Amino acid sequence: MKLPARVRIYEVGPRDGLQNEAQLLSTNVKLEFIARLAAAGLREIEVTSFVSPKAIPQLADADELMTRMPRDNGVRYPVLVPNWRGMERAEAAGARSIAVFTAASEAFTKANIGMTVDESLAAFRPVLARAAQQGMWTRAYVSTAFGCPYSGRVEPARVIELATRLLDLGAEEICLGDTIGVGVPSQVHEMTELALGAGLSLDQLAYHFHDTRGTALANVVAGLEDGVTCFDSSTGGTGGCPYAPGAAGNLATEDLVYLLDAMGIEHGVSLEGVLAAARYIADALGRPLASKVGQAGAFKPSGERV
Ligand code: HMG
Ligand code: MG
Repeated sequence: MKLPARVRIYEVGPRDGLQNEAQLLSTNVKLEFIARLAAAGLREIEVTSFVSPKAIPQLADADELMTRMPRDNGVRYPVLVPNWRGMERAEAAGARSIAVFTAASEAFTKANIGMTVDESLAAFRPVLARAAQQGMWTRAYVSTAFGCPYSGRVEPARVIELATRLLDLGAEEICLGDTIGVGVPSQVHEMTELALGAGLSLDQLAYHFHDTRGTALANVVAGLEDGVTCFDSSTGGTGGCPYAPGAAGNLATEDLVYLLDAMGIEHGVSLEGVLAAARYIADALGRPLASKVGQAGAFKPSGERV
């Protein structure tokens, strides 16, 4: 089995990580966190969401935050956009990369964005067309890809059908989300196989694993074995969706970086830098680090602790 030599780590800490926190952070603290993530070598950092501030008050400062983001520094800063209104706001604030998001189950889609799945795709059509016109990079999420908190089992074929429809609408990358962390490696293999069989290429596919039941890293290994080269993670292991009861943190970036380093897979991110950013955000949130490597420290052949 040939694992990829290099992968992309797509950081979601400032967005997924903070959207479910009881504590609201200031824009300055978020900007400092994002700057530390970039300093650690992360080159794709999802920074906020242009959604209703009533739905996600934690990210109500999206307009100000995005306006204050650095430009042209080689880092991609995608933002979530649920509809045309969100697109207008994102564009006005200077976003150059966007992510639309729907789900494989009707119940979650309704709870999360107040639309049916078909309505969400109809809402994304003009958004993705506008993004293409503006030369923006685009991603589309299919959430609840491995299970729905309201309706349970999800058919993998349904997930892949949506993925192909989103590609047809112009999304450049499809990210399959295990929103409530129920998936296991055998299901990841099945999903990748179905995706490739439906015509997706490996460089169009990303996985987003929540670690609710401790299967996220195992699922990453399954994805690597399939040849997938983009994985989402959140520095500090924060994350969750307020509209997905039971959703816990994302796979922690430091746990992912540790694994990839030890497996000799390149990614360009410094573990020490990520740990420093993780400590910063944990302090800001006033709680201990959720990640394994954050608690244990990195392993150095010299015996030194990081
Ligand atoms: P709605 O209530 O169903 O629809 O919200 P609406 O069109 O009637 O809008 C309601 C209010 O929101 C109105 O304001 C609109 O103007 C306003 P009001 O009249 O009540 O004052 N509104 C907006 N405001 C700001 N920006 C906008 C916008 N659109 C409408 N873009 C809506 C529909 C989509 C807005 C709402 O349901 C929403 O914001 N949902 C966001 C939910 C969310 O962000 N969830 C978390 C992200 S998804 C996730 O975490 C999963 C992921 O990580 C992958 C995985 O884990 O699987 C990506
Ligand atoms: Mg998520």
